[in-house]
Amino acid sequence: MIKFKEKKIIITSALPYANGPLHVGHLVEYIQTDIFVRFLKLIGKDVVYCCADDTHGAPIEIKADELGIKPEQLIAKFFKEHQEDFKNFHIEFDSYYTTNSKENKYFSDLFFERLKKKRLIYKKEIEVTYCEYCKRTLPDRYVKGKCPKCNAPNQYGDVCEVCNATYETVDLIEPYCVICRNKPIRKKSEHYFFKLSSLSDKLEKYINGNKNFQQEIKNFVLNWIKEGLEDWNISRDGPYFGFKIPNEKNKYYYVWLDAPIGYISSLANYLKSTKKTEKIWNESKIIHFIGKDITYFHFLFWPAMLYAAGFNLPESIIVHGFLTVNNEKMSKSRGTFFTAKDFLQKYEAEHLRYYYANVLSKKLADIDLNLNEFRDRINNELAGNLGNFCYRIISFVNKNFDGKVKDIDKNNEIINEINNKIKNIEKYYNDLNFNSAVNEILLISDIGNKYFQKNEPWALIKKDKNRVHKICGLCVNIAKNLSILINPILPKFSENLQKQLKLKNLKWKDIDFKLKNHKIGKEKILVKKVEEIKEELFPLNLKVAEIIEVKEHPNADKLYVLQINLGKEKRQLVAGLKDYYSKNELKNKKIIVVTNLKHAKLRGIESQGMLLAGEDKEGHVGVLTVKGAKAGDVVNFGNLKNSNKEISFENFRKLKIVVKESKVVSNDLELKTNKETVSVEKVTEGKVR
Ligand code: MSP
Ligand code: ZN
Repeated sequence: MIKFKEKKIIITSALPYANGPLHVGHLVEYIQTDIFVRFLKLIGKDVVYCCADDTHGAPIEIKADELGIKPEQLIAKFFKEHQEDFKNFHIEFDSYYTTNSKENKYFSDLFFERLKKKRLIYKKEIEVTYCEYCKRTLPDRYVKGKCPKCNAPNQYGDVCEVCNATYETVDLIEPYCVICRNKPIRKKSEHYFFKLSSLSDKLEKYINGNKNFQQEIKNFVLNWIKEGLEDWNISRDGPYFGFKIPNEKNKYYYVWLDAPIGYISSLANYLKSTKKTEKIWNESKIIHFIGKDITYFHFLFWPAMLYAAGFNLPESIIVHGFLTVNNEKMSKSRGTFFTAKDFLQKYEAEHLRYYYANVLSKKLADIDLNLNEFRDRINNELAGNLGNFCYRIISFVNKNFDGKVKDIDKNNEIINEINNKIKNIEKYYNDLNFNSAVNEILLISDIGNKYFQKNEPWALIKKDKNRVHKICGLCVNIAKNLSILINPILPKFSENLQKQLKLKNLKWKDIDFKLKNHKIGKEKILVKKVEEIKEELFPLNLKVAEIIEVKEHPNADKLYVLQINLGKEKRQLVAGLKDYYSKNELKNKKIIVVTNLKHAKLRGIESQGMLLAGEDKEGHVGVLTVKGAKAGDVVNFGNLKNSNKEISFENFRKLKIVVKESKVVSNDLELKTNKETVSVEKVTEGKVR
């Protein structure tokens, strides 16, 4: 019988931009893809996992310019960093390449040529926004102004964050250049357009006919097609970091043209040949993993380009949602923005892989990293259930049988139950339902734990040592199978467990209940627990207070004596505001007060706390204030709780609290009540005192 070789599978994750470090949001995708790739390899599929740094575009050129280095130096730095991060999180590519490569240039030109030959590319003059000071055309993110729809100030050149309107940079009202703050001009410029519109029918057929696509995504994309596709500007004027368009002086391919082509050139890097690449790409199944923000590029532009250039279209494109931390968008000011490196300062890579596997399915919904749930899952499930079962059985066999496994208890009920679960797990992995796979795996170690416990081998051993030896045999087989089942998610855990069992590189086909007459190795703790997440305290107890009365200090020119309402209590403060505020201006104002400062007498009058004010270099002074909050409301820096311990004035002075853009910041954390951010009157940049 002739055996047909199964198709090669080429799997990709989106190419991370080479202008910043990877964060835990990015890792959702790379971990999801890596689990899938490892699973397919484990069941014996021929898989190539390709990715690369996405190195081109205006932001990279501008950032390098700001840093006074060449874009090549900037992308080299992140190329190295990204690969370190991937390695640390056990994300294993078969090819990790860069879009700034000769292969990528070759394929970009090839696509461009083929599209041109098919008359799918044409030139058209358009208006762009140009800064004469910076001498550059300003892309979306580098020009701000008032929204042409709702007039909201400080909106970017592509979309209004207040009313969600989308528009062109030239539509902005009172635009300014983000780099130099000057007013840009409108300029005419000729650009290359790709006739996306003419491929609408083809795209619709492709999307409709594909059984693998997630339904929600299909609906979105089909709707876009229905509303009518616009042709796509695929060129940019210099200065730009990218590939020059052949026969042009100062025009480059738009980064989104050569970025997805990076998937192909990463394959070329794997194959060590550009010649074979097209053929192999076309003979393989292509599967892309992406985040929902780049759906348009991957479901419309990219398939259209592939189709027009005669390349094989993706068999599947798997889209995941965005990561939130504690149910909010990751935010530096709330202390919930973790880079990959930050995360490893506190936790283990496999903690995150385990947690993500638990929350990942083929759904588009956003994914939440809840830090308390994270700790509980690692400690109770991963360490408490899975890790504990394996450790327990290995140490028992070592202690009582000198590490020897002789025979297996033929308990068909348990073996059948586990075999059924294994079938489910294989299906769940295949369908990207990793959360269900994890649940079933935990149920298997639960079965093992209960079986061991119920038999009380520590007691039974005195009566029937032979039977206990068999019970241990079955448990060791369960542990062996677990090491394979969990391998895609926790490759290191799996490797260590197999090492302890004196086994190596087991594949899915090695799952069975046949291991006997075997000597295992020493036990070692397999999972590090997550420490209680310590609540860090901010040393000040800050509250909103309302000023009810303002009087002049009898013995001092610059001081007022204020009576304030703190909700449940009233207090008296002495404040040096007389040079900056009239009595009337202060009355009824809502201010921020340090309530745990040691009380002090100032020129004979007691001050029971201190109000906070900002001061800038020119000597302007303005109080911290809120509008919506009530007297007595708590005020915090980010998520830090306030301390109740009394603090001295000297220690207060050591704290670094500053005013940035009229907001109050300490250690990158913003000061806020649960309703609003605290603002500073009269001062935009300065110190808080
Ligand atoms: N360079 C483009 C992709 C080009 S693919 C030809 C890009 N880069 S990115 O660095 O911004 O994002 C890389 C991937 O990470 C994208 O799929 C993106 O959706 C994903 N994520 C980035 N931030 C994310 C979260 N906060 N949460 C989940 N995924 C996120 O886009
Ligand atoms: Zn400028």
